[in-house]
Amino acid sequence: MSLFITLEGPDGSGKTTQARLLAGYLENRGIAVLCTREPGGTKLSEQIREVILSKVNHSISDETEALLYSAARAQIVAELIRPALAAAKVVVCDRYADSTLAYQGYGLGLDLDALRTITRFATGGLVPDLTFYIDVPVKDGIARKRHGETNRLDEKNIAYHERVRDGYLEMAKAEPARWVVIDGTQPVGEVQKQIRNRVELELKKRGF
Ligand code: TYD
Repeated sequence: MSLFITLEGPDGSGKTTQARLLAGYLENRGIAVLCTREPGGTKLSEQIREVILSKVNHSISDETEALLYSAARAQIVAELIRPALAAAKVVVCDRYADSTLAYQGYGLGLDLDALRTITRFATGGLVPDLTFYIDVPVKDGIARKRHGETNRLDEKNIAYHERVRDGYLEMAKAEPARWVVIDGTQPVGEVQKQIRNRVELELKKRGF
């Protein structure tokens, strides 16, 4: 039995908390779990994460950024995710390739087909079995991240984040067997309950 679950959502959607809660729940049920995150997860991928997110590299081009996220992904897939799935673990990953399509594709406007090709190359075609999109309105997400009011700089970014959100919703609609959209404005426990219910269905399908 192996199961590859990813969590997607805007910054401030609480998906990291949800990923940890889910991993803990599965472990308590006696299931072997790998819980990891993107960008990062391995030493090399964490180094790439630092390069991407470092303020020193503010002149990074959109294409460079997309390729760095993909390079980090190639490493985590080869080093962690594939071996874990081969060992019949459940993998819970906080962000995956859909983040590149949403942020660099829908958000920044890079060519979606090119990004899909790069993603296929980086992952060897490894697609999650189940992807949760934790949906929160853009302004709520930004406010949560800042623990309060949005500022003027945030306002400028709202259109970009709206494109990202629309992109996620479009991807979810196009592939309903894989995607589950969850209302992230609900209490943490309620969001977690809905995630667990869906995961339980998948486990059952796999005879667990
Ligand atoms: P993350 O560490 O998940 O932060 P957050 O908790 O804010 O979601 O992700 C860091 C940023 O990287 C986030 O703004 C989304 C972005 N990102 C991309 O733009 N493309 C990608 O392929 C990935 C994996 C992340």
